[in-house]
Amino acid sequence: MKVTIVGGGGFRVPLVYTALLGLSQRLGIDELVLHDVEQARLERIAPVLEGLAAERGVTLPFRGTTDLVDAVRDAEFVLCAIRVGQLEGRVVDESVPLGLGVLGQETTGPGGLCFALRTIPVMMQLAETMAEYAPNAWLINFTNPAGMVTEAVQRVLGERAIGICDSPAGLLRRAARALDREPSELWFDYFGLNHLGWLQGIRDGARELLPELLSSDARLDTFEEGRLFGGEWLRTLEMLPNEYLYYFYYAADTVNAIRESPNSRGSFLLDQQRAFYAEGAQPPAEALERWRKTRHDRERTYMAEARNAAGDCHEHEADANGGYEGEAMAVLEAIAGNTQALLILNTANRSSLPFLDEKAVVEVPCIVGRTGPVPIAVGEVAPHARALVETMKDVERTTIDAAISGSRQQAIRAIALHPLVPSVTTAREIFDGYCERLPGLKEAFPA
Ligand code: G6P
Ligand code: MN
Repeated sequence: MKVTIVGGGGFRVPLVYTALLGLSQRLGIDELVLHDVEQARLERIAPVLEGLAAERGVTLPFRGTTDLVDAVRDAEFVLCAIRVGQLEGRVVDESVPLGLGVLGQETTGPGGLCFALRTIPVMMQLAETMAEYAPNAWLINFTNPAGMVTEAVQRVLGERAIGICDSPAGLLRRAARALDREPSELWFDYFGLNHLGWLQGIRDGARELLPELLSSDARLDTFEEGRLFGGEWLRTLEMLPNEYLYYFYYAADTVNAIRESPNSRGSFLLDQQRAFYAEGAQPPAEALERWRKTRHDRERTYMAEARNAAGDCHEHEADANGGYEGEAMAVLEAIAGNTQALLILNTANRSSLPFLDEKAVVEVPCIVGRTGPVPIAVGEVAPHARALVETMKDVERTTIDAAISGSRQQAIRAIALHPLVPSVTTAREIFDGYCERLPGLKEAFPA
């Protein structure tokens, strides 16, 4: 079985490789190809992977390439996590709106739209390449903004394109732990779009546990989302939102907090990774140690010093519990092993959320076997959540259309109709600000 990682020189690839090391024999993975647009990044990451394999005494040979056709040809699974414009682009995504008093964040708000505008055309090329050279491959997409990107590539690949995110599974795990329960014993009624979802029920047999959880400040205080939103608001809402909804419910607070912080999340990561990649190829043990140290600092420094100041909604505990590579492996295993596993994924709605059309990509629980994910029927949801999902789905689709057509008008329309953008004038200023700082974007969206 051939598995390809697009974005193979990325900083998190060692996490994915570690997870693959554990699975490769069972699933019969005999070819692993890493694709990256930069040979130097592949050369920096390769010895880290060799170090990991040596440490575990397992072999999973891999090769790197910058040729996309070579990388995906006849693959069975293509895992994709790319950052078009790299971290320099993320810094621009985050800082331009902030200068205008609007949220500046990687995936939520105008930052996510700008990120999508430059990412979708590249992802469409990947989709076309897969359609031609890997007609039976599954695309497991982590590339953000994952919901929009997955919906865009589904236009070419249909339901073979699956979007993943670690935040819903993290929320379920944390909620179960707060109830002193095992997630596998419970049914979680979760729905929404990527980074825009809600847990509206936790069922234990015929018993509904969510009211019990929301009524206890002591329990809510034990986990991230409970502390972030606060008991009073959660009891008012009667649902447990995905952490990213913090940017909607506490919009002004997050803008103020981020503006006061000296360093955005993007610029922190940029400095750190520049230093890591600048060191070039090293012997395996040394490369692995250096990667581990960088990663450790990445989580620790940020959590301890910058998180609150930066108004960031995460506590970055995900990796310790399986993280996004854990989600990717769960999908791979469910399809390859036909396990009919229950996973929360980004896939075409069919009729899961009856108020959206069948092709809208949603993030809902799915049964996953060898024919891919089948979304379960969520049904009607609270009017407030439905309204926000409908609005954001329209913003997402407008963004996808803008990205594919290169229409400046559509791009501005998407930004202006985003609920976190206060006026059309601001939307124009944001888009112009992006074009000024990203020459590629200016070229792609001629005035
Ligand atoms: C979570 C989200 C991802 C996002 C990441 C940002 O894991 O689910 O979609 O990319 O956080 O983390 P970072 O360390 O890059 O700020
Ligand atoms: Mn995510």
